[in-house]
Amino acid sequence: MSAHTVDGPVESARRRVVVGVAGGIAAYKSCALIRALTESGHQVRVVPTESALEFVGRATFEALSGNPVHTGVFTEVPQVPHVRLGQEADLVVVAPATADLMARAATGRADDLLTATLLTARCPVMFVPAMHTEMWEHPATVENVATLRRRGNVVVEPASGRLTGKDTGAGRLPEPDEIFALAALLLERADALPRDLEGRRLVISAGGTREPLDPVRFLGNRSSGKQGYALARLAAQRGADVTLVAGAVAGLDDPAAVDVVRVQTAAQMGDAVTALAAGADAVIMSAAVADFRPTTLAASKIKKGAGEPDTIPLTKNDDILAGLVKARAEGDLAADTAIVGFAAETGDEQGDVLTYAREKLARKGCDLLVVNAVGDGKAFEVDNNDGWLLSADGSETALAHGSKALMASRVLDALRPLLPPAG
Ligand code: CTP
Repeated sequence: MSAHTVDGPVESARRRVVVGVAGGIAAYKSCALIRALTESGHQVRVVPTESALEFVGRATFEALSGNPVHTGVFTEVPQVPHVRLGQEADLVVVAPATADLMARAATGRADDLLTATLLTARCPVMFVPAMHTEMWEHPATVENVATLRRRGNVVVEPASGRLTGKDTGAGRLPEPDEIFALAALLLERADALPRDLEGRRLVISAGGTREPLDPVRFLGNRSSGKQGYALARLAAQRGADVTLVAGAVAGLDDPAAVDVVRVQTAAQMGDAVTALAAGADAVIMSAAVADFRPTTLAASKIKKGAGEPDTIPLTKNDDILAGLVKARAEGDLAADTAIVGFAAETGDEQGDVLTYAREKLARKGCDLLVVNAVGDGKAFEVDNNDGWLLSADGSETALAHGSKALMASRVLDALRPLLPPAG
């Protein structure tokens, strides 16, 4: 057994965040982002471009941030804001980032307060693009995005879906909650979003399954899907091609740039994951799959009164994770497919969380087991987690308490060396 590695403590203090807003219709969504950041205690300075103010008024940005808002470098000159804002920031988020704004940033222009701030920032900088698909796919934008990424900036993959008017396609601004989650992650961990999974294909399951009893009732569980969604979101933002197999989740928006396949039952989840695993470099089973289903599905609603059941006979579901490991061993799945399991453990008089987790890793035969300590309101339906990462090679890493996004970033870090060579 190798030495335990302990993840460092996470800083969650009040931080200085500059929110840049470029001139696009999605500028209105930046208001929700600014509010989420201030409500989490951060000090926010909004720096719009002149054209952003065509979409959202200065007063809105000032009221939401509680700070003055300027677009040029000739206001508050004694405070030298075009240098100080960038120098003092812990994070700069530009949302929305238009094609024009990214072109100016890529060429190092400093012709307004926002681009000047981008040139002086030494903290993580995240661009969240929003534009029409044609603009996003134009070689000029593609090159500008590549340049910004090469210089260490995060350029978020946009969502697909409805753009202004009836257009649909890639280029939509991700939802403010999602931008906030990525921004909060960069504040927790500045290097959490490298482009290190480009070209990798990942299948990730999330949420709980529902096993129907009759047309209106089911056996379910309390999984919210948040951890699996965080993993899918991050893997896509690290460049992977991600398919998320989602069971029942707590009203979560689809993560940007992720294909979502919806299922209800464990059997449906098993079919979907098994079919998708064939072309994947890795499968991450973060779903809470029901171990049992009602043996019979009543065709009509089960009624009280004569003939009412006093027990529900159950039948065991297939173990999807164990099935993948077996398929790999038998050659039905590529030998280098990485397989990751999750375990929610409580510990009891017979053993603690870690003892059970080690047994589970051995029993399931996966390459990596992500262990959550549950019970006492931990793990389910909450935004923070703590636990362990156990690897088949014997290494064990304690994960300090942190957001599910931070946990997801640690899981992807551990997964990356297990992936087959890119190609
Ligand atoms: N899992 C699965 N198929 C099932 C049950 C679980 O693929 N029918 C996967 C989960 O997605 C998770 C891992 O197995 O990655 C561990 O799930 P857990 O419920 O903790 O494990 P069990 O084998 O059901 O063990 P326990 O007896 O502790 O419930």
